[in-house]
Amino acid sequence: MRVFVAGATGAIGKQLVPRLVEAGHEVHGMTRSQSKQVMLHELGAVPVVADALDPDQVAEAVGRARPDVIVHQLTAIEAVDMRHFDRDFALTNRLRTEGTDHLLSAGQAVGVRRFVAQGVGGYGAYARTGGPVKTEEDPLDPTPAREMRETLAAIRHLEEAVLGARWTEGIVLRYGVFYGPGTSLAPGAEQFELVRRRKFPLVGDGGGVWSFIHVADAAEATVAAVERGSRGAYNVVDDDPAPVAKWLPALAQELGAKKPVRVPRFIGRLFAGEAGVVMMTDVRGASNAKAKRELGWRPAHPSWREGFSAA
Ligand SMILES: NC(=O)c1ccc[n+]([C@@H]2O[C@H](COP(=O)([O-])OP(=O)(O)OC[C@H]3O[C@@H](n4cnc5c(N)ncnc54)[C@H](OP(=O)(O)O)[C@@H]3O)[C@@H](O)[C@H]2O)c1
Repeated sequence: MRVFVAGATGAIGKQLVPRLVEAGHEVHGMTRSQSKQVMLHELGAVPVVADALDPDQVAEAVGRARPDVIVHQLTAIEAVDMRHFDRDFALTNRLRTEGTDHLLSAGQAVGVRRFVAQGVGGYGAYARTGGPVKTEEDPLDPTPAREMRETLAAIRHLEEAVLGARWTEGIVLRYGVFYGPGTSLAPGAEQFELVRRRKFPLVGDGGGVWSFIHVADAAEATVAAVERGSRGAYNVVDDDPAPVAKWLPALAQELGAKKPVRVPRFIGRLFAGEAGVVMMTDVRGASNAKAKRELGWRPAHPSWREGFSAA
């Protein structure tokens, strides 16, 4: 198939493009930068330069590639201050709203048969009620922390636009928290360094449940969705949702660091806002049963435990 990847040069894009090429697909990879065209060539893709926030450029790029499938992996996540979550996600939120709409319009104009978009399965997207592990049937959070309202609204927009596109097979992959090459959870990268330097404290009871996914496993699931996904959402997470109180000390040990500092909720709120406290104490994890069953996919790193060591 001819596959158009928006976000081809990012953490997930760099893992995804070579796997699609290896599976025999013709990949057109989008970037804003002329300078990243060489990288895209090396990954095996036809480079396409366009700004995702410019509807004319997107329409022209997609119109020229005439893909069978569009994959939307556009984000712009720089350092995030949890107290200003929406501010720091502002550009990502635009990519998830306007960017999604431009890609969908361009895809409809050429009649793409599948549209696969990046959703969110980690980082507190699911409603914080009921059990610790959520399926795709469970609702997204209707009452997110104050600092995350715009971000959740953008995720909801993306989901509704993609799943509601009746002219194509609209698929949302709700990825867990990425770790591994090119992510912020990798040797020398930001989050691993915070944990190593004891600057990632355990807040309250550390009861927030996180679902992780090795970025290579996320890419494998995406290839499966491109080839045989059906309309709907899929959690793309590992087999081992775990509370912060479990994974954070284990990661610290893996990195040869001292145990994480423990702070009460009110201190956590001062330094990381309500969003930070929610993330550490209240978020829910996700189940990958549907992705395994329907995509025939299995993560090569079934648990973050071994996955972190491998990374
Ligand atoms: N589920 C998760 O845990 C999750 C999800 C997403 C990201 N992250 C993390 O966030 C960190 C940084 O990710 P990131 O999103 O900042 O960067 P990234 O991984 O470099 O990916 C961003 C991608 O979106 C493209 N892009 C952004 N704005 C664009 C625009 N206006 N027009 C066209 N393309 C555009 C970029 O292309 P060009 O720069 O080439 O133009 C790039 O391919 C990584 O550590 C990653 O692991 C985690």
